[in-house]
Amino acid sequence: MSETIIIIGASSGIAEAVARCYAEQGSRFFLVARNSKKLQVLSTDLTARGAKEVQTFVMDANDTNIINKMLDSAWNAFGAIDIALIAHGSLPDQQRTEIDIPYAIAEFRTNAESVIACLAGLAVRFKLQGKGVITVMGSVAGDRGRASNYLYGAAKASIDAYASGLRARLFKTGVHVLTVKPGFVMTAMTAQLKLPERLTASAEFVARDIRRAISKRCDVLYTPRFWILIMLIIRWMPEVVFKRMRF
Ligand SMILES: NC(=O)c1ccc[n+]([C@@H]2O[C@H](COP(=O)([O-])OP(=O)(O)OC[C@H]3O[C@@H](n4cnc5c(N)ncnc54)[C@H](OP(=O)(O)O)[C@@H]3O)[C@@H](O)[C@H]2O)c1
Repeated sequence: MSETIIIIGASSGIAEAVARCYAEQGSRFFLVARNSKKLQVLSTDLTARGAKEVQTFVMDANDTNIINKMLDSAWNAFGAIDIALIAHGSLPDQQRTEIDIPYAIAEFRTNAESVIACLAGLAVRFKLQGKGVITVMGSVAGDRGRASNYLYGAAKASIDAYASGLRARLFKTGVHVLTVKPGFVMTAMTAQLKLPERLTASAEFVARDIRRAISKRCDVLYTPRFWILIMLIIRWMPEVVFKRMRF
């Protein structure tokens, strides 16, 4: 089925893989990213793969004053939108966040505040049209603050809580909210990390999971699925044990 999709943070590795899945079925796209060249390359690629129409909008997600203008452009272009995906984000240098407060705040803004601003703007428009799926990229990191990346974890936890409340608020309006919690995924974000091979998924694998979760109207997606179990153990670990762990 051909759908109309808005993707904020469209140049992300995971978002590009999701977009490619939908392009093959002739979907229409409104792509938002801060880098116009990347947007152009993605737009050409999606068109070659079968996308019926691709519109682009250049925006830094932290420029929250522009979000309404961007969303107005999307709705003016397509009238109604079936699916939204918010995918922008950054992986902060945790050690720097511990000593450089402006840096920590800027990273929190990118990973939490700007995402919440996009969710709020999308919610208004989706509620008016009375249908659709709003999808937001959280992370397993949001399930519990770990010593090695708790600034990022705190940002993702705030998105998790916000999306949960929004899901409940919109439940009876016909609008669905999906929170995606990937584990380790091979993208530019993790390229500099040494990830455990057996626990690391490709962007394409995660994209297929996201597409399935959108069509099934899932509430929360752990991807790959085994992260449900890993995070269950991590969440239930007593604080007295957890605080001794350095991971
Ligand atoms: N990779 C993982 O292991 C993993 C795990 C769990 C959750 N996630 C989440 O999944 C989402 C996608 O990540 P990814 O792995 O696909 O990472 P990625 O390929 O590094 O993509 C991150 C994207 O965020 C964009 N971005 C960063 N700051 C921005 C800003 N201020 N305004 C607009 N765009 C901005 C980047 O734009 P530029 O292209 O212009 O730099 C890039 O397109 C993120 O929310 C991430 O936190 C990823």
